[in-house]
Amino acid sequence: CITMFIWSVWSVVLLLTSLVAAKDGDVRAGCSTAVNDLVYIVDGSWSVGVVDFDKTKQWLINITSQFDISSHYTQVAVIQYSDTPRLEIPLGKHQGGTELIRAIQSIAYLGGNTQTGRAIRFAVNHVFYSSQRASQVKNRLAVVVTDGKSQDDVEDACMEARAQGITIFAVGVGNEITTSELISIANKPSFTYVLYAEDYTTIDRIRDSMEQRLCEESVCPTRILVASRDEKGFELLVGMNIQTKAKSIPGSLVSETAYALTASTDITEKTREIFPEGLPPSYVFVATLRLKGSSSKLTFDLWRVLSKDKEIQAAVTLRGKDKTVTFTTTSITEKEQRVIFKTAKPATLYDGKWHQLKLLVRPHQVASFLDDQLIHAATLEPVELIYINGETQVAKMTGTDITVPIDIQKLRLYCDPHQSERETACEIYSVVRPIHCNIHNSHILCIAASYAVENNMRIITCCCFFFSHFSCLSYGVQDDERVSSVSCTFLIKIYLQLFCN
Ligand SMILES: *[C@@H]1O[C@H](CO)[C@@H](O)[C@H](O)[C@H]1NC(C)=O
Repeated sequence: CITMFIWSVWSVVLLLTSLVAAKDGDVRAGCSTAVNDLVYIVDGSWSVGVVDFDKTKQWLINITSQFDISSHYTQVAVIQYSDTPRLEIPLGKHQGGTELIRAIQSIAYLGGNTQTGRAIRFAVNHVFYSSQRASQVKNRLAVVVTDGKSQDDVEDACMEARAQGITIFAVGVGNEITTSELISIANKPSFTYVLYAEDYTTIDRIRDSMEQRLCEESVCPTRILVASRDEKGFELLVGMNIQTKAKSIPGSLVSETAYALTASTDITEKTREIFPEGLPPSYVFVATLRLKGSSSKLTFDLWRVLSKDKEIQAAVTLRGKDKTVTFTTTSITEKEQRVIFKTAKPATLYDGKWHQLKLLVRPHQVASFLDDQLIHAATLEPVELIYINGETQVAKMTGTDITVPIDIQKLRLYCDPHQSERETACEIYSVVRPIHCNIHNSHILCIAASYAVENNMRIITCCCFFFSHFSCLSYGVQDDERVSSVSCTFLIKIYLQLFCN
C-alpha cells in the first residue's frame, strides 16, 4: 500500500520516471498528464527564515510529485519574492521531475520585505507570458505561498491574472497572515482556493488538499450547477447525450425529469470526449435510477469506461441475481481490482422504485451509499491512470454491447469528495417526502451549536430540526460579525435549496 512507502526524494523521482514511461504506447490520462503551466510564487521575506524556507521548498517538491514534468504535460516555474520577485526557475526549463526537484532544492533564501502584489504581477506579465506553448496549455495555475501581510496592493495584480485566465491558489502559513488578503488573492470560492497551515512544520497536513485541488483544476474543467453553487464535475446525462437519445419520462418527484433507456438505445461515447484528462484521484459517482422488469435480474454495467481492448478502466456493475453492487477500477499491480458491496442493503435497489446510488472513490478507499445510507466501505490498492482511447458506456450488459433497459434521472461524477456529504438523496420519495417542500422557514429550526477557530477560519456548527430530521453542519466563516446565531439562518436557505430545489 502506497501509504507505507517511505517517501524520500528518490521515491518521488521513481514515481515521476514511471509516469513518463506510461505515456508511450497507449494513452493513459489523469492528473499527472494534465497540460498545466504551474507557477509557484513563494514568500522569501525575513519573517520566513531559512529553516522554514527549506520546508516550503520540500512542500513544493511534494505537491509537484503528482505531475508528469515535461513539455507535453506540466511545466513548473518558481518565483521567490521579498521586495522584488526573483525568477528562480523559468517555465519549462526542466524536463523531468528529477532535474526540477534538484533545482527547487538549490533555491537560496532571499530575505527582505513582502511585496506580494508585485510578485503576482511579475508572474502574470513575465512568467506565464513567456510560456512556449501558449496555445496548447489547458490550465494556467499559480500557487502563492505567504506567511505575512503584503506591503503592497494585491488586488490589481490578481484582477489582471484572472483577466488572463490564470487561476490563483493562496496558501497562508502561520498566524500573521490576513485572511481578507488571501481571499482577494485567490479565485472564488475561497473554500476551494484558499488554504491555511498553522505553521511551516505542519504544512504537510494541507498537502492532500492542495494536491486534490490542483488535480481537480487540471482534470475537471466543467461545472455542474447544484443548489446555486458551481461544482466541478461531469454531468453525464448531458455529456453522454442521454437527454437526446432516450425518451423523457416523469422522474422520482414531480419536479424531476428522467429518461427511459430501451434495448435499442445506445449510450456510448468516446472516453476522450467525456473525460479528456482522465478521472480525478477522488470523485463521487451519483446515479438516480429505477430498475424494472428484466433489468433487475441481469448483470450489467451501469457505467463503464473501457480501454480500446475492452478492458475495464472504471465500472459500477449491478448484479440482479445476488443483488450486489460492484466497483471496478485499475490497479498498478493487477489488470484491475474489484470491490463487491454485498450486504442486505443493496437489495432495496431492486424493488422497482427510484433510488440513489452513490460511490465515494478516494485514492485508498471506496464507499457506497444507497439513498444516503452507507452500504459499505472498503480499501483500494493504488490505481493506475485510465486509458482514454476507448469508450465510455451506460447500462450495458457486462461483457457485451447490449443495452439493459433502465430509467435514469441523474448520472454525475463530482470531483470534490466533499460533495458526497452535500449530495443528499433528496429526490428520493422515501428519503424526504415531497410534503417537506411546501415548507416555510418556520418549519426549520436551526441553532448555533458551537464555534471554533481553526487555521484562522471560524468554524460554526449549526444544528437544525427539520421535521423528523435532525442534523448538524459545520462551515467556515471569515469574519466575526457572522459568528452569531444569526448565521444559522444561512443554513435554512441551504436546507430549502437542498430539499426543495
Ligand atoms: C514531504 O513529504 C514527506 C514524505 O511524505 C514528509 O515526510 C515531509 O514532511 C513532507 N514535507 C513537507 C514540508 O511537506
